[in-house]
Amino acid sequence: MAADAEDLEHTAAAYRAAEHMYGTLGSPLYATLCREGAKDPEVLALSAEGLDAASPVHLFTSAHFLLLGGAKHPLARFFATLVAEPAPPDEAWPDFRAFCLEYRDELRQLIASKPVQMTYAYRCRTLLPPMCIVADEAGEPLNIVELGCSAGALLMFDKYAYELREGEHIGDRASPIHLKGELHGGPALRIPLIGSRTGLDLNVIDPNREEDRRWMIATCYPELLDDQRQLNDAMDFVAASDIAFHEGDALTILPGVLAATPDPVCVYHSACLFYWNEEQKDELERQLREASMGRVIHRISVETTSEANRWLEGRNEAMGEAGNEAQATGEIILTRYRDGKAEPEWLAASTPDFGTMWWKD
Ligand SMILES: C[S@@+](CC[C@H](N)C(=O)[O-])C[C@H]1O[C@@H](n2cnc3c(N)ncnc32)[C@H](O)[C@@H]1O
Repeated sequence: MAADAEDLEHTAAAYRAAEHMYGTLGSPLYATLCREGAKDPEVLALSAEGLDAASPVHLFTSAHFLLLGGAKHPLARFFATLVAEPAPPDEAWPDFRAFCLEYRDELRQLIASKPVQMTYAYRCRTLLPPMCIVADEAGEPLNIVELGCSAGALLMFDKYAYELREGEHIGDRASPIHLKGELHGGPALRIPLIGSRTGLDLNVIDPNREEDRRWMIATCYPELLDDQRQLNDAMDFVAASDIAFHEGDALTILPGVLAATPDPVCVYHSACLFYWNEEQKDELERQLREASMGRVIHRISVETTSEANRWLEGRNEAMGEAGNEAQATGEIILTRYRDGKAEPEWLAASTPDFGTMWWKD
């Protein structure tokens, strides 16, 4: 459906808002495309047709996907994924615009059908510490169920090597995936023994399908080659695993999955619930309470929230200048569901890249 003036303004606002974010996250190319795109009605109109019109990255990902698939166009010279020495991002707009017009039909089809499901193996840095707590409490092998698992990179967290405290190496050092972070406080770390792995997603990714894998790599910012390598390696682990994937709304599938999953079980979700409204979140809570009659279900939540920033503001004040640099946007909450009752425990705040965590005590 063609975009009206309100759609265009809404999309332009999303482009303006995202410029700073992409710059901060390490993509000067996408920051430039946002700055220039916000002023271009033709590109905005195309972008507004996407499943998520408020996300400029959908159009950029689709262009990246076509280029990775071999589309021949001068735009390729700006992508670090395609050339060893990318051209300056500030010069990319005319080629991006031309690409959008030339490949309009292909782009239209992609943004209307493929969701952006960004996932990064490095998010496991925030998953390992609470998983250690759950494994200690609930026992092993632990059966894990992820809501909104995307390509399944987090379901393989036990296959990666970690250094979350200086000099403390956890996991298989021969793993191709090494995750370094900063954990302030927190539990003793180890790799828990995992039993079954179950992943629920609206759109299941098959790592053995070239198109799925290329789409996932295209969702990574082109400059962040290490993230792409990590995701590729994670998808190799997924391809060799016995993860049971279920496609559809997690809220429809979860009750059946929980009924079929033996104890001990841990349900978790990361960067997923910001897509959900309050009704959906309440429904998840209700389902977990109901499923916990006669058993204990652990739930780890790694999501963005204002709670973490409020806590960090207090801490920064207490620390004076030393704390000013710290900025959290994420938090880790562990909830134990027993006989229909929930016992939430706020564990930690984390930075947007999930790299630094401050444990509550
Ligand atoms: C941003 S990705 C995060 C993936 C992964 N959890 C991570 O942290 O890297 C969010 C995922 O949640 C999925 N998702 C969102 N709402 C969902 C729902 N109601 N049921 C199942 N999956 C959902 C999306 O399809 C997407 O793959």
